[in-house]
Amino acid sequence: MSDVTIRPMTAADAPAVLSIYQAGMDGGNASFEHTAPAWAAFDASKLPEHRYVAVGEHGTVLGWVAISAVSARPVYAGVVEHSVYVDPAARGRGIGRALLDALIESTEKAGIWTIQSGVFPENAASLALHRAAGFRTVGVRERVGRHLAQGNRWRDVVFIERRSPFID
Ligand SMILES: CC(C)(COP(=O)(O)OP(=O)(O)OC[C@H]1O[C@@H](n2cnc3c(N)ncnc32)[C@H](O)[C@@H]1OP(=O)(O)O)[C@@H](O)C(=O)NCCC(=O)NCCS
Repeated sequence: MSDVTIRPMTAADAPAVLSIYQAGMDGGNASFEHTAPAWAAFDASKLPEHRYVAVGEHGTVLGWVAISAVSARPVYAGVVEHSVYVDPAARGRGIGRALLDALIESTEKAGIWTIQSGVFPENAASLALHRAAGFRTVGVRERVGRHLAQGNRWRDVVFIERRSPFID
């Protein structure tokens, strides 16, 4: 990890970010979606703050993290949903953890109190990563959606969250 830096994502990172997103989707256990969006759609759906990339020593983007609002209601203003994706060739080196730690630090500083996400039960790497980073399992949503790219089969989703211990 000494050769990996976490920095804010910029529009210049778009090709690498979307390519890593697609590679994650291609693995079959990252998302119900099967095609990465165009940058304009990605950009519109993610909050502008709290987007980070991990870069290698030559500036190569190795992974990213970003959040979306979950509700327009003021009561949920501090609740966000995140996505974290690491290049398949760079997995298992602590990059996902470094990205999540950066996200947790920056969202806490901004007063965001809960980060949540849905993870397929088969996604052992994601479940282990999030558990290690302080997320808990809220519950398993059974057969909550159909996965078009997998014969339209019903899939369960593990709903996870991290409630900041620092925001009262
Ligand atoms: C999930 C993902 C982001 C993990 O990133 P990563 O950089 O490989 O993870 P790290 O190396 O930081 O590992 C973090 C922790 O998860 C554990 N972990 C990583 N891969 C694992 C695996 N395949 N099986 C079990 N545990 C695993 C590590 O041991 C580590 O735990 P520790 O801190 O207790 O040692 C990555 O596998 C990925 O991009 N997957 C495809 C996209 C995806 O599924 N995103 C999440 C959608 S919910």
